[in-house]
Amino acid sequence: MIKSNHIEIVVVGSLNMDLVVRSPHLPIPGETIIGNSFATYEGGKGFNQAIAARRAGGQVAFVGKVGRDGFGDRFVAALDREGISRDFVTRGKNSTGIGNVWVGEDGANKIIVVPGTNNEVTPEDVEAASELLASAWVLLLQLEIPIATCTRAAQLVRRGGGKVLLTAAPVPTQPLPSELFEAISLLLVNETEVRQMATLLGLPAFNEGQEVEAGRAILAQVGSSLEGIVITLGSKGALWLSTQQVEHIDSFKVKAIDTTAAGDTFTGALAVGLQRGLPVPELLRFANAAGALSVTREGAYPSIPFEAEIERLLANG
Ligand code: RIB
Repeated sequence: MIKSNHIEIVVVGSLNMDLVVRSPHLPIPGETIIGNSFATYEGGKGFNQAIAARRAGGQVAFVGKVGRDGFGDRFVAALDREGISRDFVTRGKNSTGIGNVWVGEDGANKIIVVPGTNNEVTPEDVEAASELLASAWVLLLQLEIPIATCTRAAQLVRRGGGKVLLTAAPVPTQPLPSELFEAISLLLVNETEVRQMATLLGLPAFNEGQEVEAGRAILAQVGSSLEGIVITLGSKGALWLSTQQVEHIDSFKVKAIDTTAAGDTFTGALAVGLQRGLPVPELLRFANAAGALSVTREGAYPSIPFEAEIERLLANG
């Protein structure tokens, strides 16, 4: 098992076993259809981001919870296989979280998550990892574990001088606490989430196509603690937004087989690029290449590319 010294990137987040059904199209309410295939893949936004950061070349540690069940065993084995420190991955009372994933022929998905042990990750679990968090360069957070836990982790990393990247997914139903917002360095959202987050902050409604305006309004509302917002736009690329800078990069043209974990893969690679000090355009290209490769393959975990593949796409793509 990898020990948690020399860690650059810490993920405090979810581990969901993805139960994936592929079908020609996704059923509408009341409709029964025959699917093409079923498979289980290790996933969860936290786990996917950790794998993406590790495979892109980072030293990664995970803080989270799995059940005392076969799915939990699979996660422990996967973290060890990938060389991710799991000193702070413990077993909870419930079953391991699951993601019920439907994937249509065009690679688009619909996901319902049942959190299981992810809901048991407490601020106390984070306190137990306080030394690790205080020395982290980058913390990756998503919203599939309790928000109080995310807040504590973010505060510990910010206090230690590290950067906190929050993927605002699933978009919460209640506004995020100001303590969490104040501890975030970068907010990561897709084109829908940026508008939903603006609404949650009490800002006026933004229409499709107004992602930059929504992002700018969020930056102005949250204040200077938030360094920037990264908006992933699927096949339309990605945007970096700060008070001084707007950068857009196009996406790589790939055939989409399964888009599950594309955003997570982008984020994990972005954390590695940030830690390496890449300038914004290069950083976005590195992360975008990783995300693009992930959509060309099925599943979450198995679809996440290694550094050499990312470099190859960057050189040729
Ligand atoms: O972002 C993709 C992930 O969302 C899946 O792996 C699923 O488990 C949900 O967390």
